[in-house]
Amino acid sequence: MTIQNSPPIVQVQNIKKVYPGGVEALNDISLDFPTGKLTTLLGPSGCGKTTLLKIIAGLLQPSSGRVLVDGKPVSEPGPERAFVFQDFALMPWATILRNVGFGLELAGVDRAKREEIAAKYINTVGLKGFELKYPHELSGGMRQRVGLARALAVNAKVLLMDEPFSAVDEQTRRKFQEDMLELVAKENKTFIFVTHSIEEAVYVSDRIVLLHRRPSRVSEIIEPKISRNVDPEAIRRQPEYLDAVENIWQSLKKFLD
Ligand SMILES: Nc1ncnc2c1ncn2[C@@H]1O[C@H](COP(=O)(O)OP(=O)(O)O)[C@@H](O)[C@H]1O
Ligand SMILES: [Mg+2]
Repeated sequence: MTIQNSPPIVQVQNIKKVYPGGVEALNDISLDFPTGKLTTLLGPSGCGKTTLLKIIAGLLQPSSGRVLVDGKPVSEPGPERAFVFQDFALMPWATILRNVGFGLELAGVDRAKREEIAAKYINTVGLKGFELKYPHELSGGMRQRVGLARALAVNAKVLLMDEPFSAVDEQTRRKFQEDMLELVAKENKTFIFVTHSIEEAVYVSDRIVLLHRRPSRVSEIIEPKISRNVDPEAIRRQPEYLDAVENIWQSLKKFLD
């Protein structure tokens, strides 16, 4: 059963990763990430989710195997892939406008143009009016939105998001999850999302890849059949949502001692 009606933009082929010192993090991972969908990597802490995301980003080299983007092997970061870090990674001395436009600044886009683009994505993530504030003047949830706006501003086709909501409170997190559904529907991008929350994965994902604990292997791929054309809160009450949460829990439970 597959929803891959569009060609995969990212292909991970037979990736293994052994860290210096001998920690075997990933053991032969092969995955295709379809265009325009949100795929979540879900698994217990330490199972290698961040390792896999960094290899896709080109920030880390695999021990063997390869990553293809649009059919071409990649081994370093590129403008078609943007990484949203767990800890925001904002520049404290720069305004929100400059932080959001930073990727464009690195790419040599002139100031007027990058400020126009940055302002547009600041609006997209609901931070209109905060352009000239500094990161310390914003809450954790707002800083995370800045990180997301920065990733959207470079117009990468692939967004790599490592537990982007883990540092925010539960209410903010739920709001973010709703926003993610809107973003995925609106921006025709490929989202590769990491979380250890089953509920979050089922809520936001078109496809969920369950990773076995270290050395990580793909243990199951689940496509929740959830109707998204209802109000966001109603999604959490759908039988399909509740079934998917329960099924994934039963699968993950098998990995526990
Ligand atoms: N730089 C490193 N050197 C050695 N071991 C590492 C390094 N980074 C991660 N690991 C180990 O690799 C495994 C997978 O880590 P990670 O990818 O961060 O897992 P996750 O993101 O799923 O929590 C863990 O056992 C971790 O301790
Ligand atoms: Mg991690």
